Amino acid sequence: MLDFSTIEQFDKIATPFYYYDMDLLHKTVDHVAELAERHNIKVHYAVKANVERRLLEYISSKGFGADCVSGNEVLHAHSCGFPADRIVYAGVGKTDKEIYDALTLGIEAFNCESLQEIYVINEMAHRYGIKASISVRINPDIDAHTHKYVTTGLYENKFGISQHEFEKLIEIIQKSEYIDFFGLHFHVGSQITRVSEVYALECKRVNEIVRYFERQGLTVKNINLGGGLGVDYDDPDGNAIADFKTWFDTIEANIERRPDQMVHVEPGRSLVAQCASLISRVLFVKSGETKNFLIMDAGMNDLIRPALYGAYHKIENLSAEQRTFFPTHQAYDIVGPVCESSDVWGAGRLLPLSVRGDLMAIRSAGAYGQVMASRYNMKDIAPSVFSDELGKAPQIKDYFE
Ligand code: LLP
Repeated sequence: MLDFSTIEQFDKIATPFYYYDMDLLHKTVDHVAELAERHNIKVHYAVKANVERRLLEYISSKGFGADCVSGNEVLHAHSCGFPADRIVYAGVGKTDKEIYDALTLGIEAFNCESLQEIYVINEMAHRYGIKASISVRINPDIDAHTHKYVTTGLYENKFGISQHEFEKLIEIIQKSEYIDFFGLHFHVGSQITRVSEVYALECKRVNEIVRYFERQGLTVKNINLGGGLGVDYDDPDGNAIADFKTWFDTIEANIERRPDQMVHVEPGRSLVAQCASLISRVLFVKSGETKNFLIMDAGMNDLIRPALYGAYHKIENLSAEQRTFFPTHQAYDIVGPVCESSDVWGAGRLLPLSVRGDLMAIRSAGAYGQVMASRYNMKDIAPSVFSDELGKAPQIKDYFE
């Protein structure tokens, strides 16, 4: 929830920008650190959700690891304080350079997604005289009951290795001299809201697969259950911190582990989504033939989720909330400035009567927002503004002075 004095300060800052509530970030991360310790679960932050240095530095300072999906993410996470031996690296398409960089850095494990990848990593480790630690990402064929673009654990998805290749997989691992087998990796999808149902199912399937691999003579030292915990986009203030308790309780109740076996999780969205809002200004109000448009200065170039997935983000008119007049509400199609009809923040949204210059907050923008921004239409990339450094934010210029 944004207080009045913060909103007053926003008025001096050039929009659009990403506003980070650092208190909420700290509370969320501290809460997860405490729960993880209690459940003996290791947390690796999925860096892809947000790569902002200040966030990574705080998360790494709490002893979390990092889950990366590109060579640049690996190097960036390392430069933000994640020790190499707490970095894992997944992704279906790792280039030779990316493998080389991660190998020589000495990361905790490559999460390998194909047999050929294991072969290539073994060859490269051989050439450079290094042992590569690998986990194998398994496709468990589990439906995460989420948007089809963020479902990853079904056989129709490109991720992980499927059951019909298990025999060959075990043979390759056993024959590859430059490979140390670390464990198994799973990740079934993102924005999972049926938490106890989906993760209980995942754990049961994981138990069967772990037993199978161990029967074949491999020691599964680490079980990585991936990320995916959903956040509440409808009520970001009511549920500012995601339901990590149910997630960890479900894992504890359903995973079978020996005392020497580690369990990893890789939350991305749930750690960072609610701590940021994209702050924008109403440029123009236009009445169309059948509807009213609120045209904002932030668009799909700043946050592509609504255009790409039809995702819902709560939108608030911060300026109108401070007014005592203009009490009426009106339905608006809230749109961005980009030359695409899909550049729509929300259709038919009921808002207090809004005028040019009003400050708007697009909530729950901390995950998969800034990282997916583009310079389409040659727009600038929206900068970060932190709650504890508001004075340092780029000031607005008044062109009518
Ligand atoms: N681990 C792996 C292997 C992943 O692929 C992902 C996300 C995560 C962990 C973290 O998942 P999370 O806890 O954030 O759900 N751009 C989409 C989300 C894509 C997620 C990709 N993988 C969106 O805006 O909804």
